[in-house]
Amino acid sequence: MNRREFLSWVGVGTLASSLPVAIAACSPDANQAPSAQSNPPANSAPPPPPAEVASAAAKQFQVVGTVAELDKKGQILNKKLAIGPVLVVRNPADPKSVLAVNPTCTHNGCIVEWEKDEKYFQCPCHDSDFAADGKVIKGPAKQPLKTYEAKIEGNSVLVKVL
Ligand code: FES
Repeated sequence: MNRREFLSWVGVGTLASSLPVAIAACSPDANQAPSAQSNPPANSAPPPPPAEVASAAAKQFQVVGTVAELDKKGQILNKKLAIGPVLVVRNPADPKSVLAVNPTCTHNGCIVEWEKDEKYFQCPCHDSDFAADGKVIKGPAKQPLKTYEAKIEGNSVLVKVL
């Protein structure tokens, strides 16, 4: 084999060995759906959030009781949440929704009670009154009750804990 034949042989070999790589680079990925390769139209809806994001949003709310329990007792008091005690009542302005407060009185730390007929929270220690949204109606308390986002889903009452 002379030099010219050798170089020609090496060149054909190199081309032949790199051909599968070149073909693979130009062909679509077998694991990827064809629709995922194309760019979406400019006016299409954004893709749904990844499962981790939806899961994190769901974890922000924690079940504190049932709607049946809420309607039977007129309130749900849960003292086992990481955010502290939570008292949930139906929203007097919209009974389909719920309101949640930290029932710890801002005057001296007693636990307020929901007066369901009068629709306000009352402190049994020094008689402070708080509206359903936690605002002070009557002192000696000066600061409102801390409030939390709450909702009803199905038969469950949930409070946002994050
Ligand atoms: S502790 Fe509630 S009014 Fe004093």
